[in-house]
Amino acid sequence: MDLPVRLASSLLCAALLAGCDGSVEPSEADLANARAATQEFGAELKGHLVAAIKASGPQGAVGVCKIAAPAVAEDVSDRQGVSIARTSLKVRNPGNAPDEWERKVLEDFVARNDSGEDATRMESWTVTKDKATGVQVLRYMKAIPTQKVCTLCHGKAISEPVREALAADYPDDRATGFEVGDIRGAFTVKMALTQ
Ligand code: HEC
Repeated sequence: MDLPVRLASSLLCAALLAGCDGSVEPSEADLANARAATQEFGAELKGHLVAAIKASGPQGAVGVCKIAAPAVAEDVSDRQGVSIARTSLKVRNPGNAPDEWERKVLEDFVARNDSGEDATRMESWTVTKDKATGVQVLRYMKAIPTQKVCTLCHGKAISEPVREALAADYPDDRATGFEVGDIRGAFTVKMALTQ
């Protein structure tokens, strides 16, 4: 490429990357990192959940979920160099409540699910600037659809022993009444842009 063409194309790239409103698009590599973190977190949690239900029934698995979810989130965050968590419009643990941007994305996921979009592939992201450090941060969310096994603890007909175990640990539980295919919540990732 000769110089003027290179210059023009790099200006175009800069314009595309920065967007006309000053918004920044994340690189494919950073997006891939965020996606990998959600996949790893999801697979590990499901592994713990299925093993715990097998070993001690769903009521016994409630306590495992309580301890395993934050522990696995921390492990995956460290390994992937991100901060990952789960959130929902109807939370069991109030510590998982969404912030303003997460709430809007969750509402959008629910609307898209209602209009028939495939929830297993639903994702959303934005780039924001950390006010304190000035660092550009990628915020990425991936929808979590309700599967059959989830309804043992998040469904409409929850068994008495599970109800009791949930009531003991989560007096403000709002995460019941879900049906297979509903958006149960989402993984939510924050990471500094690397490029
Ligand atoms: C054995 C009971 C049990 C089963 C089965 C279960 N969960 Fe949960 N779930 C919990 C508990 C307990 C918490 C709260 C964990 C915590 O304290 O962070 C939770 C929290 C969550 C959260 C975080 C938001 C919130 O409500 O606090 C999501 C998202 C979630 N579960 C999704 C699922 C999905 C998807 C499945 C099926 C693959 C599932 N759960 C199956 C018990 C269960």
